[in-house]
Amino acid sequence: MACGRKVTAKIGPSILNSDLSMLYDESERMLRAGADYLHLDVMDGHFVPNLTFGHPVVKCLRQKLPESFFDLHMMVEKPENWVEAIADAGGNQYTFHAEASSDIPALCRKIKESGMKVGIGIKPGTPAELLLPHAELADMLLVMTVEPGFGGQKFMQDMMPKVRLLRERFPLLDIEVDGGVSPANIDLCAQSGANMIVSGSAVVKADSPQQVITQLKQAVQKVFP
Ligand code: DX5
Ligand code: ZN
Repeated sequence: MACGRKVTAKIGPSILNSDLSMLYDESERMLRAGADYLHLDVMDGHFVPNLTFGHPVVKCLRQKLPESFFDLHMMVEKPENWVEAIADAGGNQYTFHAEASSDIPALCRKIKESGMKVGIGIKPGTPAELLLPHAELADMLLVMTVEPGFGGQKFMQDMMPKVRLLRERFPLLDIEVDGGVSPANIDLCAQSGANMIVSGSAVVKADSPQQVITQLKQAVQKVFP
């Protein structure tokens, strides 16, 4: 439940498209550039057609970054299987996909009991209505603005009505967008109601990540001061 909490602008770079042989250095670089949190993309090759890393890598990163907020984007089948491992590895928010869960309320409770925040995400083909009955159990709702699986894809503007609907219904919840988000579309995201902004390529590949993060944050702060 998010009652009483003020919705604020938060920018979370995704390091998926950075040099993963230097995961810590890249994460550090993002935090120094003003990132509010790190969005860590876990993929299992089943829920999405790609593989990344899992809890052992997250655990190593946590040892080097004891203070940062880790938002774990779990693009996996059977998300209920990894709650304890991710909590033990130092995850702060466990964001699973509604499409992958056979019992969303039970999974939300399990995540809460593990001490992490609950994020529930939906792919582009999934209606926002699927989230409505579960939102009270969540801290954050994620609207994917690309098909999950790869960084560097084109932002899907037609996902904005979903963001608007969720923001209208849940004025106090964190709402995150993920996929192709950049300075070119941040105003639209923020005006639609997103306050947690994942940005991968646009930030990690920028000459000045700091400039891009600042630009994204200021745009969201205009809507969520
Ligand atoms: C895609 C991932 C995203 C992605 C974002 O499946 O969930 O977090 O890495 O990267 P960009 O901003 O490049 O789309
Ligand atoms: Zn992601």
